[in-house]
Amino acid sequence: MPVDRPRGATMRVLGIETSCDETAAAVVTGEGEILSDVVRSQLADHAPYGGIVPEIAARAHVAALDGIVAEAMRRAGIGFGALDAVAATGGPGLIGGVIVGVMTAKGIAVARSIPFIAVNHLEGHALTARLTDGVDYPYLLLLVSGGHTQLLIVEGVGAYRRLGTTIDDAVGEAFDKTAKMLGLGYPGGPAVEKAAKGGDSARFALPRPMKGRPGAHFSFSGLKTAVRHTIEALPPGPVGATDTADICASFQQAVGEAIADRTRNAIRAFRDAHPDGTALVVAGGVAANAHLRSVLESLAAAEGMRFVAPPPRLCTDNGAMIAWAGIERLKRGEVTGLDFAPRPRWPLDPDAPKVAFAGVKA
Ligand code: KG4
Ligand code: ZN
Repeated sequence: MPVDRPRGATMRVLGIETSCDETAAAVVTGEGEILSDVVRSQLADHAPYGGIVPEIAARAHVAALDGIVAEAMRRAGIGFGALDAVAATGGPGLIGGVIVGVMTAKGIAVARSIPFIAVNHLEGHALTARLTDGVDYPYLLLLVSGGHTQLLIVEGVGAYRRLGTTIDDAVGEAFDKTAKMLGLGYPGGPAVEKAAKGGDSARFALPRPMKGRPGAHFSFSGLKTAVRHTIEALPPGPVGATDTADICASFQQAVGEAIADRTRNAIRAFRDAHPDGTALVVAGGVAANAHLRSVLESLAAAEGMRFVAPPPRLCTDNGAMIAWAGIERLKRGEVTGLDFAPRPRWPLDPDAPKVAFAGVKA
């Protein structure tokens, strides 16, 4: 559906994110200026359960979203009448939350007669580096979050070619499970990173899954099991501070080496496909990890690539990335019909071959 708009007017889009445990809204301009960016974490709602409870997440989004949207508009200093479109995460994610965001966005779109744009959450992460650093297509993207671990060539809006994915757990899941086993709470990523400071990364010889194998697929379930065995081999009782620090540091070291190995192969495949491509971009919640960022920075330097990592706040879930993906779609005249149904699953590259390894579920 094409969209008519006056030439030269500044485009402003409201973005809504509700696919997991952050209720978020932001207003972003067509030039990439973030006018507001409001995020409410549901951490306290889920903390007693040690992980995200989908039903609690959906209810918390219902309770918070109207206020978060109002706050995003207030901070942006504009009324709904100044919006060119409203974008919301349409999937993939926890379906109850996605429904809340999509229905709210559709309501605003209808009430204000502006276009609605359903954004793929992964596309939001994938395009963040264009919002923050103006990276040109094509680029190589390492997407590392709680639900996904993928290497993709981003050739344009909606044009993604997957080079690798995880054959079992996502890397964020491995962080979260490691934290849980050590009693560090949820979400595990930031807790493991903090606990690893000052730890001895060489004390425990944890596996570097898939390292040295051809291709760019990942695996993290063996590493998670090795962490469990390491903890079980310690004296009984709560794990002490030094052991916790050493386990977390050894775990981060293993993750960093495994990811660097896979990414190196992907850089070479990317260069074969796009000799003009120069950037390695990292995105998703785990991209907030300082150790991983420094490992990837060194790898990119060694491979002669530019390395781009959005600020940590824009790596974890937020509304600005959804608004920006909406802007990229809107600039192409692409908007979504109001009959859009929220999608629990929505791959970025639906044509990617299924991965199936002997003895491993696809
Ligand atoms: O992108 P995101 O906010 O939500 C999803 O779309 O999944 O990613 C959340 C994941 C969680 O697994 C969390 O533990 C991890 O990102 N994470 C981190 C860090 N901050 C968040 N992992 C490692 N180090 C961090 N600093
Ligand atoms: Zn995410």
